[in-house]
Amino acid sequence: MPFINERLEANRESIDANRANSGPVRVSRFRFQPEAVMTRLRANIVGQNEALAAMEAMLVRVKADIGAENRPLAVHLFLGSTGVGKTETVRLIAEAIHGHQDALCRIDMNTLAQEHYAAALTGAPPGYVGSKEGHSLFDPEKVQGSFSKPGVVLFDEIEKANKDVVRTLMNVLDTGRLVLPAGNREIDFRNTLIFMTSNAGALDAEAHEQRFQRGWRRWLGVSPTGGEAIRDAALRRHFDPEFLNRIDQILTFNNLAGDWLDALLDIELAALNRRLARKQAELWLSPQLRSHLCQGYDRRYGAREMMRAFRQRLEPAVAGALLAQPEITRFRADVHDRDIRVSQYVE
Ligand SMILES: Nc1ncnc2c1ncn2[C@@H]1O[C@H](COP(=O)(O)OP(=O)(O)OP(=O)(O)O)[C@@H](O)[C@H]1O
Ligand SMILES: [Mg+2]
Repeated sequence: MPFINERLEANRESIDANRANSGPVRVSRFRFQPEAVMTRLRANIVGQNEALAAMEAMLVRVKADIGAENRPLAVHLFLGSTGVGKTETVRLIAEAIHGHQDALCRIDMNTLAQEHYAAALTGAPPGYVGSKEGHSLFDPEKVQGSFSKPGVVLFDEIEKANKDVVRTLMNVLDTGRLVLPAGNREIDFRNTLIFMTSNAGALDAEAHEQRFQRGWRRWLGVSPTGGEAIRDAALRRHFDPEFLNRIDQILTFNNLAGDWLDALLDIELAALNRRLARKQAELWLSPQLRSHLCQGYDRRYGAREMMRAFRQRLEPAVAGALLAQPEITRFRADVHDRDIRVSQYVE
C-alpha cells in the first residue's frame, strides 16, 4: 500500500481533532493550502485575474474532496496566444502544491503529432521494440501524486496531438485510468489535476480584436463582441464535441499589454535582485530602460520578447559590470542608443 503511512497519519490527526473538540471535525486528506497556492500565483502571474479566480475555485473544490470518484480531480483547458502565462500558471500550481520545481508531469503534444510517435504516450504495444520495458511518457509518481497531494499533469499544445492520442486522452478523462499496452499495467489519474493548453483560436480572436481597433468601429467606440463565438468556432474546428464535453472548464488567457508588462518586469527584476543579493549587489533600472524593455514588444509573442531582452541583453551587461567592478554594491542600468549600460548607482 503506497500511501499507507500518510493514511494512518491523517486518521490519527482526525481522531485527535475529534477528541480535542467534542463534535466531529471535518479534516481534508489534502495537505495543500489553496490560499498559499493562490498567493504564489498572484505574486507571479500578471493580467490573468479571471483565470486565477477559476484556479482558486478549483483548488477549494479539490481540497474539499467531494468530486466524482472515477474521474480525474479536475480537467481544465487553457486557451490563449503564445507567451501569456498558460504553462507558467500550471508550473507554479505544481510547485506550490508540492514544494519543489519538478513536480509537474508535462507532455508536449507537439512531439506526438506524427502517428509514428503516438505510441510513445502509452509505451510500445506487446511485440514491439521497447514493449518489455513498458516505458510511457508518463511518470506514474508525478501523475498519481500521493494521499495528501494531487498529481499535476500538463498536456501542452493539445491541438497538435494526433487523433489516436486524443482518443487515448478521452478515455483518461472518462475513466480516470490509462491502461498501458505492455502487460496489464495502468496509470491512475483519479488523484490528478489535468491541464491542457492550446493556441487554437488565438489568431482568430486576435484578428477579431484588431478589427475593432481600426476604422469606423473604433471611431464609434464599438467594443469587440462575439469573441466567445469566434473562440468556440475555432475550438470546434480543432476538437470533437465529445472531447470538449469532458473538460470541466475552458479558460481564455488575455493578451498581455502595456501595464502588465511593466508589472512583469518588476517581478523579473525582484527575482534578479534576490540573486544579486547573494553577491552583495543591487540593481536599479532607469525609467528609459524600463520603457525600452517593454516597448519593442509584439503582441503576437506575448511576454517572451521582454523576457528574452531581460535575459539576453540586461543580464549579461549586469554580469559584466559585476565582474569588472567588484567593489561596487549598487548598480544602475540605463539605455543609450539601444545599448544597455550598467554603472554605479549615484543618488
Ligand atoms: N501573465 C504572465 N504573468 C507572468 N509571467 C508571464 C505571463 N505570461 C508569460 N509570462 C512569462 O513568459 C514566459 C512564457 O510564458 P508561458 O510559458 O506561460 O507561455 P504560454 O502561454 O504557455 O505560451 P505558449 O502557448 O507559447 O506555450 C514564462 O517564462 C513566464 O514567466
Ligand atoms: Mg505553453
